[in-house]
Amino acid sequence: TASTELSSNIITDNSFVKGLAESSTLQSIPSQFTFANDSRGSHSDSIPIIDFSLLTSPDPDQRAKLLQDLDKACREWGFFVLVNHGIPETLMKSIIDASLEYFELPEEDKERYKAKSPSDPIKSGSGSVITTANHKIHLWRDFVKSYVHPEFHCPDKPQILRDIVYEFSEKYRSLLRKLLQAIGENLGLEEGYIDEALKLDSCFQLYAANFYPPCPQPDQAIGIPAHTDHGLLTFLIHNGVAGLQIQHDGKWFNTNSPQNSILVNTADHLEIFSNGRYKSVKHRAVVNKQATRISVVMANGAAPDAIVGPAGPLVERDGRALYRPMKFIEYVETMLSNTVDGKGNLECLK
Ligand code: SIN
Ligand code: FE2
Repeated sequence: TASTELSSNIITDNSFVKGLAESSTLQSIPSQFTFANDSRGSHSDSIPIIDFSLLTSPDPDQRAKLLQDLDKACREWGFFVLVNHGIPETLMKSIIDASLEYFELPEEDKERYKAKSPSDPIKSGSGSVITTANHKIHLWRDFVKSYVHPEFHCPDKPQILRDIVYEFSEKYRSLLRKLLQAIGENLGLEEGYIDEALKLDSCFQLYAANFYPPCPQPDQAIGIPAHTDHGLLTFLIHNGVAGLQIQHDGKWFNTNSPQNSILVNTADHLEIFSNGRYKSVKHRAVVNKQATRISVVMANGAAPDAIVGPAGPLVERDGRALYRPMKFIEYVETMLSNTVDGKGNLECLK
């Protein structure tokens, strides 16, 4: 239907959905939340699982197989479930708990991070999208986002959040570099090429926590509509409540992830850098009636001042560049947040 056609970015609203969801009389969702969903997801057992420990396996066959699986996952799905990644379970649990604590703060604490400008280092609120029929649809989700690298920002409440997010971002950077090193190998690039071209020492990282309260009419609302992410690779963990769906072969798939795994998806700048070999994957968050869902996302990109374009050796091999280069931060700030229901961001760079 026309109302699922979304034409613009998510607009930040400075109200929170949590309070509304908790009002005991709420039987149905207010009309501004009504979102005409296309088909809901089906389950998939075939989502690729990548065993990170095999990357350092002394057995060359095992390592080669891992690289092959990783390449296939990036090419065919743009999405994989990472296991044996080395990030301690307790740390994963603490960041989910601390993020939940953030949302449980009184509204006045969270309102300090109302978005004033797209470049604010910390933002919190909820959001809406505008449909092509010019309807504003409110999303069933509250969020907090902060830039954590190369400059570190974090809400100061709850107090423990800062240290945990800091430690997490460090661990994730190391994971990012190792994964990108393997991806570079798969793309046939020399060792260190990606590190240097994208200035990974000062890579950009954005921490985002999403809070999806139970929804009385989950089929008629949406947490986050279909979009692709900026950056290179996005890492996502959650509190065990399902809700992330990815698009594959034109269909929506529910993602099921074993405990302690990290969901990884390829984002717009990996598509650009790989000159279109790896496509950024469309995904969305659906909501449910019973349980609160929390997801903790780290978007990982090139350095803010790095120029991101198709990798030189790949352009040479392909005979042409499919995208034009742009400074990473310009891309993030001019086409900010998630362009929904489409890959509008990338269209601008063709
Ligand atoms: C996102 O796409 O940013 C979050 C999706 C989720 O919460 O699962
Ligand atoms: Fe996303």
